[in-house]
Amino acid sequence: MGALFSKSLSVEALFDGPYYQGHMFEGLTDEQKQAIVADLSDMDAKLPGGGLAGYLQRARGLLADAKAGKNPFEGLTPEVPMGERLTGETGPGSKTYADFEKKGMEQLSKTCFCLVAGGLGERLGYPGIKIGITAELTSGMTFMELYAKYILAFQSYARQASGNSSLELPLAIMTSGDTNAKTLELLEANSYFGLSKSQVTIMKQELVPALMDIDARIAVKDGQVEKKPHGHGDVHALLHQHGLPRKWASEGREWLLLFQDTNPLPFRSLCAILGVSAARNFVMNSVTVPRLPAEAVGGICKLKDASGEGMTINVEYNQLDPLLKTTPAGGDVADASGFSPYPGNINVLVFRVPDMAERLESTGGIVPEFVNPKWADAEKSKFKSPTRLECMMQDFPRLCKKEDQVGFTQLERLMSFTCVKNNLADAAKKNPPDCALSAEADIYACNARLLELAGEGKVKIAQPKDVSFLGITASIGARIILAPSFGISLEDMKTKIKGKVSISQKSELLIDGNVTLNDLDLDGALRLLADGELGSKVVKNSGSQLAAIPDQELKSQEPSLQIRGYRRVAAEVEEIKKL
Ligand code: UTP
Repeated sequence: MGALFSKSLSVEALFDGPYYQGHMFEGLTDEQKQAIVADLSDMDAKLPGGGLAGYLQRARGLLADAKAGKNPFEGLTPEVPMGERLTGETGPGSKTYADFEKKGMEQLSKTCFCLVAGGLGERLGYPGIKIGITAELTSGMTFMELYAKYILAFQSYARQASGNSSLELPLAIMTSGDTNAKTLELLEANSYFGLSKSQVTIMKQELVPALMDIDARIAVKDGQVEKKPHGHGDVHALLHQHGLPRKWASEGREWLLLFQDTNPLPFRSLCAILGVSAARNFVMNSVTVPRLPAEAVGGICKLKDASGEGMTINVEYNQLDPLLKTTPAGGDVADASGFSPYPGNINVLVFRVPDMAERLESTGGIVPEFVNPKWADAEKSKFKSPTRLECMMQDFPRLCKKEDQVGFTQLERLMSFTCVKNNLADAAKKNPPDCALSAEADIYACNARLLELAGEGKVKIAQPKDVSFLGITASIGARIILAPSFGISLEDMKTKIKGKVSISQKSELLIDGNVTLNDLDLDGALRLLADGELGSKVVKNSGSQLAAIPDQELKSQEPSLQIRGYRRVAAEVEEIKKL
């Protein structure tokens, strides 16, 4: 990546405006001073939006606003935004959903992907990178492998549909200093999980200088510049700096899916989501879930100013209630559906590539930053610890033009959202626990639901039961994994089930291939690792189970098992490698 604002700084230059950072050099040796200058020069070259000077100038403005307690929503009136609710009668299984899926399937050949994977995962406290966590134990796939397989399955469909046998669907991955080396290691060690190296672009985000006071004086610790993460909003500037949206637009690509490091579920509904983007011509389409009032999930609102101009954008949950106090509802409350009328943002976003490329070009991709200092005193004169500017990827509408259509697609959680976010102690106290067990349970539940829907009345799956490991409980029934190669959409899966399927609660079913099922009676474990048609079949064996790992063995397990407290124990499994 070429440096955008390359210029060399000096100790002298840093003393004066626009920097005013003379304090940094007090009591330092010449060597230390030069090291700081070299470090800041490097950051200056990489910081988008006017380099270091731009960063400090924005920080001074935002810190002054924070001290003054300025309300960022002053004068704005919230309204329920426009979008498509693919839940209940218009959810999966309905004609509406099927129509959107078919429309979206036509868009797959023009779709690009971007994984934001720069987050450290402090709350989880996992020793490796989050995309290296095993998503579920039935296939044993890591999140990264699963994402690659989805992209390859969409690509294979798109190649057939477009008649272009060399078509590649691009994937950009945002990493950070915390995740970059391990991400590359994971990809290299696994031959990019079948993706070609040329279709993957790694974009590393940089840390930004930490600031110790409202004059934006940079913090120095042990003779070095203190640095902190800038947030996932960096993805827009990085996409722009790498020239990707412009390049993709010139190649005729239309859509970009931005997805998260531990949530594979949106790939199951991607075709419907793309269908909504295409039907509504959305420049940005936020995937949302029904949101309970006061839930710690941001809400998508249309914010109207005095002139009647509106912007559809996420409002963080802690700002939502004060904002909604000004509406007739009187706060963050439910409507007749029992949910907030404001859709819950899960930060899975679809952009229209040509418009995105233009908006990034005119703005440099700098989404407006915010600052969240923890004040040490009532007068707001000191911070408890150094702070920094941050930015969020969902703030892209702030780069949009008035005429840009920004909306949402609402889906049930089961079809769109899970995550591995909390360490075991926190997960045990939360509902949902958002940990490895709950994510694994969500993945099985989503697959079971899809198989049932795809069978259109021909598939019966026994109800799940509660299981508990390390004090965390989740509902797990038949452990069904339909790998991406089985079907890229519900519509696609409907063509794969010809007979009656019955699956008992203790069963495990892995379908990893383009398989068509006839009558299947499963009470045990069956693994189909091939392409082709499975004739009528009855499988009855002692199967496999998820079993607790004894305390004394836990520490010696690989990290993906340590965060679970359970493992897969297989007694008798039927495996078919040729059909
Ligand atoms: P999370 O909200 O899960 O935050 O990020 P996190 O930083 O990973 O975890 P905590 O807060 O430290 O526990 C949402 C998504 O944004 C990415 C994450 O990797 C995840 O996919 N992200 C977050 C970045 O890419 N860069 C960042 O600076 C922050």
